[in-house]
Amino acid sequence: MQLTYMRQLLAQKQQQSLYRAEAVTEPLPGGRLRATVDGITRQYLNFSGNDYLGLSADSQLRQIYADAALCYGAASTGSPLVTGYHPVHQALTDELCEWLGVDDVLLLSSGFAANQAMLQALVGEQDLLLLDKLCHASMIDAAMHKPHFQRFLHNDLQSLSQRLSKAQQPCVIATEGVFSMDGDSPDLAMLVKTAGETPVLLDDAHGIGVQGAEGAGSWAAQGLKAQHFQCLMANFGKALAAQGGFLAGSSDVIDFIRQQARHYIYSTALSPALSVLIRATVQRVRTEQWRRDKLQENIATFRALASDSHLPLLASHSAIQPVMMASSEVALAVSQRLKEQGIWVSAIRPPTVPTARLRVTLSAAHQVEDLQVLIGTLQQALQEANV
Ligand SMILES: Cc1ncc(COP(=O)(O)O)c(C=O)c1O
Repeated sequence: MQLTYMRQLLAQKQQQSLYRAEAVTEPLPGGRLRATVDGITRQYLNFSGNDYLGLSADSQLRQIYADAALCYGAASTGSPLVTGYHPVHQALTDELCEWLGVDDVLLLSSGFAANQAMLQALVGEQDLLLLDKLCHASMIDAAMHKPHFQRFLHNDLQSLSQRLSKAQQPCVIATEGVFSMDGDSPDLAMLVKTAGETPVLLDDAHGIGVQGAEGAGSWAAQGLKAQHFQCLMANFGKALAAQGGFLAGSSDVIDFIRQQARHYIYSTALSPALSVLIRATVQRVRTEQWRRDKLQENIATFRALASDSHLPLLASHSAIQPVMMASSEVALAVSQRLKEQGIWVSAIRPPTVPTARLRVTLSAAHQVEDLQVLIGTLQQALQEANV
């Protein structure tokens, strides 16, 4: 690509307020973060992270990770099918199988890679892939490589059913347990019923750890079993407060992906120390129901306070609570105003989402007072933005 083109594009992004850059931030206990903005470092209330259960700053888990780094090191030294699959990977795989009630699991370097691997392997050349319109970029990108792919209306079973009945070829359905930008969920029992014999693939990145008995996920919360899905995908970077992703399912399905998925075969295995940490975290997540209860309490409190203040919320009952904004400019201005008041909430704008919003994410680490401060400041910021 020509450098002149790159410079033009960068300038255009700046002009259109679409230029993206990393903010230098550091998570702190208690749902806070430290950030340096315009050369000034200060603490903020963090309503933008995915640490739904508040485990990222847990000192016991950090100690386990440090001990594992000493014992096993950071390097897996190879891809899983060469020399990268260690006893600690086996132990994590077994733990995940028992937790979710599946036969087998594949560990991948990220949730993004896991989604790519899942769709690469499980959607054949002749299949028609039916994807919910709001599915994550990792699924959309994988879908773009498929010869036959359609998107059905978001969480709309009628739209799905119409496409299924019109299809001239075998179909595969892919959706999410909790949608990352709207925070809502499909009616999974009805979706599985609508699908009938058609395989359903579920991305549960935002459901795992947070919903269902022992935090098994959105499908468990809706009374389903892992076997209702041909494959489950989730990641370790959100409620599980680590990094990486995985695919889970029956022996046949996982073995098939193992043979086919280039993201698995040709990529360095997860760090052994990280695998030890994730296993310990899963054990904590399973037993510490109080974290899920606290998060649910925070979600209910946030929604009650927001409704009293007439804030425009979506119908989400998850930790993701979007507050809708009149425009991208308003979203940016309000987010900026909140930052000045020590509150970190990202503005999410088109093309990432169809309509601009502040994407508030809640954690078990937040206290009621934090939510009160957020709502009060948000109300004031909206008034100042003349909304
Ligand atoms: C729904 C969903 N799927 C997949 C991913 C990708 O996971 P990871 O960040 O582990 O690559 C994310 C988040 O980032 C997500 O929100």
